[in-house]
Amino acid sequence: PQVQSFDLVIFGGTGDLAARKLLPAMFHRFVDGQIPPSSRIIGIAREATDDAGYRAQMRKALAGDGSKAAQVEAFLQQVFYRSLDARKDNGWDDFAALLTERPDNVRVFYLSTAPDLFIDICSRLGAHRLNEGESRVVLEKPIGRDLESANQINDAVGRVFSESQTYRIDHYLGKETVQNLLALRFGNALFEPLWNAEHIDHVQITVAETLGVGNRAAYYDHAGALRDMVQNHMLQLVCMVAMEPPSSLSPDAVRDEKLKVLRSLKPIDESNAAQLTVRGQYRAGAAEGQSVPGYLEELDGAKSHTETFVALKTEIANWRWAGVPFYLRTGKRLPERVSEIVVAFKAVPHSIFDPSAGPLAHNRLVLRLQPDEGVKLWLTIKHPGPGGLRLRHVPLDMSFAEAFGVSQPDAYERLLLDVVRGNPTLFMRRDEVEAAWRWADPILEAWSASGEAPKPYTAGTWGPSASVALIERDGRTWNEDGE
Ligand code: BG6
Repeated sequence: PQVQSFDLVIFGGTGDLAARKLLPAMFHRFVDGQIPPSSRIIGIAREATDDAGYRAQMRKALAGDGSKAAQVEAFLQQVFYRSLDARKDNGWDDFAALLTERPDNVRVFYLSTAPDLFIDICSRLGAHRLNEGESRVVLEKPIGRDLESANQINDAVGRVFSESQTYRIDHYLGKETVQNLLALRFGNALFEPLWNAEHIDHVQITVAETLGVGNRAAYYDHAGALRDMVQNHMLQLVCMVAMEPPSSLSPDAVRDEKLKVLRSLKPIDESNAAQLTVRGQYRAGAAEGQSVPGYLEELDGAKSHTETFVALKTEIANWRWAGVPFYLRTGKRLPERVSEIVVAFKAVPHSIFDPSAGPLAHNRLVLRLQPDEGVKLWLTIKHPGPGGLRLRHVPLDMSFAEAFGVSQPDAYERLLLDVVRGNPTLFMRRDEVEAAWRWADPILEAWSASGEAPKPYTAGTWGPSASVALIERDGRTWNEDGE
């Protein structure tokens, strides 16, 4: 079904995210007939171009969908461009007039710029009264670089847009497998009784990328993996795994439960950061068969202590999870692109089998976010045939693509339409962002106080060996390829 007619205004319209994610997401929804004809997508940036110039740029960005050239052209008729500088008045009156031409369209302002422009953009939107009526603002991460700067941004945006108009996007929440966690946990009677410290040995979450920082070095070097991936995406995954059952799927019921998880994370600070965290930075190596430069070369040889890899061990200090480690790791230039959540159950309390039957492996539930989204449940069964009772560890394996025969929509497709519909369930509330920074800040402070450089790792490997040591010290291992 179509959504209500809307104007999606993308600040940072010529940027990487717009071309790589936002326009393709809208195009896919257009192809599926969900975009009403009176809707517009309006790119905004400083670059002096016009509708035709912007459409030419976006035509290129959509070229991957080449077979649909006619549809691309039809879609581009709904795409417009205005050149604006957030810090100057020029052009804002015309822009406001363009929007007020269609007073019934829901207005979505997507701020995909450096966060230091959020404040200027919002105050100009406010000055032109574009924040009134059915109008919403989407904040792309990073929302600040610590609690204090996040508060400044949220305060400034909050002077123009109310909390219920503010959508803080975390695109991991739009991924199919992440939403599937809700279905799996709360739509089956099977898991919830076991979902606690009594039955779960540990949880591990890996978000591995093969890409380096490429042309985002200027942003990335001020962020690093903890700010770029852990404070937001990975903590959101932790919340979805660990939260108590919400009473309903209403936005606040879900977000209240996530907030409780964030507030229960055990602190990591100067006293324990050296034991509980590992930072790495890639050196030259290979990615997908090609030799690739190291991080510092990508920064043109500049010195930098920014981490491109983090592994850490945390715990959730509450009744359900006391004592269950959550191991998280993420990095750039790792051997493969794979994101997964592994819930490792405890061993059976007593083995009735002869040791010659083989080892009794633990049950593991593996939720794969990408690539090839799906769920695997590892079970112990008898090896078929006569030959005595030999045990085998095999997965019940479901690939969503195979099971449903459809390719999964990109996270942004779902989330952008949720904004138009006015459903904030899968967006971060202000207090969640604050709680996440409250946990991350002391880690960042401990690292900077230690003055230690991140440990080098060769591009195309699984990060510094200390990451393996972090989990093996506890007698556990990172999930192996394909398990
Ligand atoms: C972004 C980070 O939020 O997520 C990037 O800024 C990262 O550094 C990206 O590459 C990963 O997203 P995905 O959907 O490709 O896993």
